[in-house]
Amino acid sequence: MTKTGWAAAMAFALAGLGLGLAVAADDKPYQVAEGNKVDKTTLEGWRTWRALACERCHGARQEGMVGPSLIESLKQLSKDEFKQSVLKGRLDKGMPNFDGSKMVVENIDGLYAYLKGRSDGAIKPGRLEELK
Ligand code: HEC
Repeated sequence: MTKTGWAAAMAFALAGLGLGLAVAADDKPYQVAEGNKVDKTTLEGWRTWRALACERCHGARQEGMVGPSLIESLKQLSKDEFKQSVLKGRLDKGMPNFDGSKMVVENIDGLYAYLKGRSDGAIKPGRLEELK
């Protein structure tokens, strides 16, 4: 390879590396501005939370009531464990299964993103709007 060819290849490789690092550092499943403007997926997750009235058992601010505080739970649960808990439920412990709800099944990623944002303290309780 010529000298310029090498330089170009190196520059390309470094750019690729930079991109990889940028993606790896940004592991949050949600985007938020000012605490209440969120990306579409997260917004749909919040709407699902409201529509299915998860707050009946977990509290309007996810602080926990009959069910545990999801602010705390989401610090521990992996995304797969989260999905499993919500879709399959824990019937013997009082957590219903939501795999029969089309809205939950379709918005499970958004639901996770929303609750993760609440758990991280990045998303405020209450109404959300779409981030433009
Ligand atoms: C009828 C009450 C009730 C409703 C409604 C309810 N939950 Fe739960 N949930 C519980 C209880 C009780 C537990 C604790 C189960 C246990 O002890 O393992 C739980 C556990 C969970 C867990 C696992 C927490 C952990 O630390 O392992 C998640 C996640 C969760 N609920 C999310 C939701 C979501 C999302 C909704 C709405 C779609 C919802 N729940 C609706 C009662 C409820």
